[in-house]
Amino acid sequence: MKIAMVGSGYVGLVSGACFADFGHDVVCIDKDQAKIDRLHQGVMPIYEPGLDALVESNVKAGRLSFTTSLADGIKGADAIFIAVGTPSRRGDGHADLTFVHAVAREVGEKLSGDAVVVTKSTVPVGTGDEVERIIGHTGTKHKVSVISNPEFLREGAAIGDFKRPDRIVIGAEDEFGKQVMSEVYRPLFLNESPILFTSRRTSELIKYAANAFLATKITFINEMADLCEKVGANVQDVSRGIGMDGRIGPKFLHAGPGYGGSCFPKDTLALLKTSEDYDSPTRIIEAVVKTNESRKRAMGRKVVDALGGAEAARGRKVALLGLTFKPNTDDMRDSPSIAIAQTLHDAGVEVAAYDPEGMELARPLMPEVTMCKDPYEAITGADATVIVTEWDAFRALDLERVKELAADNVLVDLRNIYDPETLRGTGFKYVSVGRV
Ligand code: UDX
Repeated sequence: MKIAMVGSGYVGLVSGACFADFGHDVVCIDKDQAKIDRLHQGVMPIYEPGLDALVESNVKAGRLSFTTSLADGIKGADAIFIAVGTPSRRGDGHADLTFVHAVAREVGEKLSGDAVVVTKSTVPVGTGDEVERIIGHTGTKHKVSVISNPEFLREGAAIGDFKRPDRIVIGAEDEFGKQVMSEVYRPLFLNESPILFTSRRTSELIKYAANAFLATKITFINEMADLCEKVGANVQDVSRGIGMDGRIGPKFLHAGPGYGGSCFPKDTLALLKTSEDYDSPTRIIEAVVKTNESRKRAMGRKVVDALGGAEAARGRKVALLGLTFKPNTDDMRDSPSIAIAQTLHDAGVEVAAYDPEGMELARPLMPEVTMCKDPYEAITGADATVIVTEWDAFRALDLERVKELAADNVLVDLRNIYDPETLRGTGFKYVSVGRV
């Protein structure tokens, strides 16, 4: 099959490379000439484990190519995916569909044969209808079926998630659309990955409902963690205790500094906007958004408390280990580290930081923070060391060296990667989340 992927960002590039690896003939299209030039040289625009090798092997095999020309890229394509960004619109949190609509128009104008047009971008309910209208208005003579096919890719594990998905959701309104999409995903059918066919609007909502539910799960356990600290319980055991119930499940019950990233914050806000537009309140999600937002600054105050309170903290130094919203990515979008660094700065605390991949993108977001070349440089002279992101590199810090370099032995572990028992008697004041 011939597949065109419009938008070569995170989702487009991972999906395009994986489709090529299935044996399809894929063209990734992007307006950004510099990005396409770099891709031609084998340079990835994002950090994602395994992506460079996957792109390289499929380019070599002649199944994957890149272009800035939408007309060339979609020529003869059976399926045209729209995988452009849908950022939060300034002011109201609604997903900004400018790029999606612009691509739909251009696709309609340049179409050279019958095709399915698939939105992979996360788009509010009803966007598929609008895409269909826009394409219809271009007066194209070709048969077009507009499909919704949301992605469920986790950054850092995106290739595995694409190739071994929990499920594939396809929102199609006609037989032609279903047939072409079955062909596109045939290698995964053979793998016995479950494929769920639904209406287009249902599929669009599934994506938001999934992310909102996961965000709710995280926020729930974060609030339980706070309660654990007050009542003297252990949140990790609470997670285990409830997660063993098959109806609840053990995943997404890790307490921490609050969720961040490119999806949960943006998608929960967009879902709130949709429910407002349709006068169908989603109070739980409202609470989740508010609770998560205030949690990030609360984590900054937790560090201040560990330093002995506001008075004692002023003029002291803190080392932040990890800045990205989670490990194995360079993504800084809505990372809790931004609010934590800001809260510390507001409290008169000097902040040094180290992150294995995120410092370049972090620098402009936190100009007051000194970026260091490794964890130990950040820790040197620090009154407290704070683990913000659970990169593997921080799981086995040389604690003796930390003691030698740091001004004081305070370890604030916002991801619970250390065991309180092992730290007992080592001379560290150890503070974690939801454990006493
Ligand atoms: C998420 C969804 O998982 C994916 O299906 C969707 O399509 C895009 O959004 P991603 O944002 O890459 O993926 O990261 P994910 O691993 O889901 O983590 C999101 C945030 O939640 C991170 O900040 C992470 O640290 C936090 N988190 C996750 C927790 O605090 N606790 C958990 O138990 C799980």
